Amino acid sequence: MNRLSGKIALITGTGGGQGRAAALRFAREGAIVIGCDVDAAGHAGTAALLKAEGLHLFGSAPVDLGDHEQARDWIEAAVAEHGRIDILYNNASAARFGPVGEFSIEDWHYTIRNELDLIYFATKYAWKHLAVRGGVIINISSTAAWGGSKVAGISAHSAAKGAVVSFTRQLAVEGAALGIRAVSISPGFVKTPGTAAFVENPVTRRALLDGVLQDRPGEPEEVVSLAVYVASDEAAFMTGSDLVIDGGLLAV
Ligand SMILES: NC(=O)c1ccc[n+]([C@@H]2O[C@H](COP(=O)([O-])OP(=O)(O)OC[C@H]3O[C@@H](n4cnc5c(N)ncnc54)[C@H](O)[C@@H]3O)[C@@H](O)[C@H]2O)c1
Repeated sequence: MNRLSGKIALITGTGGGQGRAAALRFAREGAIVIGCDVDAAGHAGTAALLKAEGLHLFGSAPVDLGDHEQARDWIEAAVAEHGRIDILYNNASAARFGPVGEFSIEDWHYTIRNELDLIYFATKYAWKHLAVRGGVIINISSTAAWGGSKVAGISAHSAAKGAVVSFTRQLAVEGAALGIRAVSISPGFVKTPGTAAFVENPVTRRALLDGVLQDRPGEPEEVVSLAVYVASDEAAFMTGSDLVIDGGLLAV
């Protein structure tokens, strides 16, 4: 406990899934957590979970981070209230899937907006605040950055997540002289409320777990444990890396 004591951590997508787990764990580790989500009810639900443990979730919802002015306003409000940013954890995303030949232009733009644009916007507006005394950016990518899928049409998703990894490397290069570290995390299939239906259906579960050496989906808390390390001072020598956590999927 207290591996993030006193750190000001901005976490996106705190309405559910991994963002909810991150808000809980980062706060338990002593961080001051400022969240946001386009889903106001989900964000409020996370705030209630923290409150039940005597913790507090700062931030606001709804915030649509794909709108750069809303991203800017969320960042600036956090700095006005807490004075600085130590950690920016870009977790939020939303994607659409379909075979590439039938995929609509609208669905392509939706996915790039909600998986890539929003990371750029939050990073752009947080950058000068992170540079004041150094900090960490954690960008959530996916194994979709590293391999295709036989199960679903993930062309836009994989393009966006591949870009998250390469964007992060450039952030590491530009951030080094400013004391800003940047690391991406690429989870494999993780069990969340959004993926629960696929996990519970034996056919899709088997297809999605094909090649996963651990033969199970990951838990949000397992990804967040890695993020705690990356965000902490224990990882001071780590920047520009992509960390895969996938139950062995990419080993095969
Ligand atoms: N679940 C998986 O199997 C899996 C695998 C690899 C990577 N990931 C990545 O992990 C991250 C977390 O995903 P999750 O599984 O918790 O999914 P999730 O859908 O449960 O959570 C994502 C959250 O982001 C929010 N969000 C989406 N677009 C937003 C926007 N424009 N502005 C503000 N909030 C927005 C959603 O409302 C939601 O609460 C994502 O980046 C996702 O791509 C997930």
